[in-house]
Amino acid sequence: MDVSNDPAAKAMDSDAAARALALAASSTLPWVEKYRPSSLDELVAHEDIVSILTTLIESNKLPHLLFYGPPGTGKTSTILACARKLYGPTFSSMTLELNASDDRGIDVVRDQIKEFAGTKRLFSSGVKLVILDEADAMTSDAQFALRRVIERHTRHTRFCLICNYVGKIIPALQSRCTRFRFAPLRPDQIRSRLAHVIASEKVDATPAGEQAILNLGQGDMRRVLNLLQSTHMAHVKVDEDTVYLTAGAPLVSDVDAAQQWLMTGNIRDVVNLMQNMTVTKGYAIGDMITELTLRIIKLDMPPTVLAHLLEALSDIEHRMAFGGTEQLQLAALVGAFIIARHMMGS
Ligand SMILES: Nc1ncnc2c1ncn2[C@@H]1O[C@H](COP(=O)(O)OP(=O)(O)O)[C@@H](O)[C@H]1O
Ligand SMILES: [Mg+2]
Repeated sequence: MDVSNDPAAKAMDSDAAARALALAASSTLPWVEKYRPSSLDELVAHEDIVSILTTLIESNKLPHLLFYGPPGTGKTSTILACARKLYGPTFSSMTLELNASDDRGIDVVRDQIKEFAGTKRLFSSGVKLVILDEADAMTSDAQFALRRVIERHTRHTRFCLICNYVGKIIPALQSRCTRFRFAPLRPDQIRSRLAHVIASEKVDATPAGEQAILNLGQGDMRRVLNLLQSTHMAHVKVDEDTVYLTAGAPLVSDVDAAQQWLMTGNIRDVVNLMQNMTVTKGYAIGDMITELTLRIIKLDMPPTVLAHLLEALSDIEHRMAFGGTEQLQLAALVGAFIIARHMMGS
């Protein structure tokens, strides 16, 4: 039978094609997108924020919002889930997502908002939602201009500003929004979501591999999922070593050795050994400091010694961020341990 003229068969064909396309897209989709929570209940953590937002949405009293906190803690996911809850399937036509840090300036942002807020709401009554990501990258002039824009459109539009540092948002804007702080996710919260993705993607991961991802992720779910996916793509098995290799972070055995040297060796030898290791393995000193910090806070040492070490390490990290040379900072790292040992009288 020739089905080429049969509209039903054609429709089915394109349906199947669309499904195949969607499937192909979903298998190549970055996991951070594929596993972005689509509803508020799917979010791990931030129970109090979710419950307040749910109440506000259900009572139709959504204020302007200001979400702030470190990256990968679910700010964007939360507001997108809110949009879905507010508008259902038409959410994309009722939501405008803008990246405030684009260097196109406040005029473009203002025009886009004006156009979006001004268009007729065909099917639904109620307010529209404008999401302004990276609002802390706006100059204060732009923020003042934004304040006017928000005031002008308040009747029919709600704004959600998203940023990492709330201190960079001018008080006049802050006072017009209800603020929500997104804390870094706790290890147990990340672990549950990580386990879910590992199971869904049938990743061959060892418990030590999961722990390594958790340690390197530092409360940032985006970093956790990206590290899991890239380790899985590069290696058959996700275990401690493959995770550290993929991240370019110091292997546990190398950090063990460094710790041993730093706690017992003499200053010149240790500087040489450490320099050798970081050069041959290509480790960043910042990564080494992160790993060492995780260890020394678990060591049994007098509080003043620990305080000295932590302060010294954070100084080194700070200097590295502002262009300090690797060689000298590595020597300073060794020096900090030598002084700590001296304080302990060994
Ligand atoms: N609270 C959370 N619960 C579940 N997944 C999360 C959570 N926070 C972040 N993620 C995951 O991390 C990715 C990045 O989250 P996102 O909301 O874009 O973070 P932010 O906007 O705070 O930088 C999401 O796609 C999602 O997969
Ligand atoms: Mg975001």
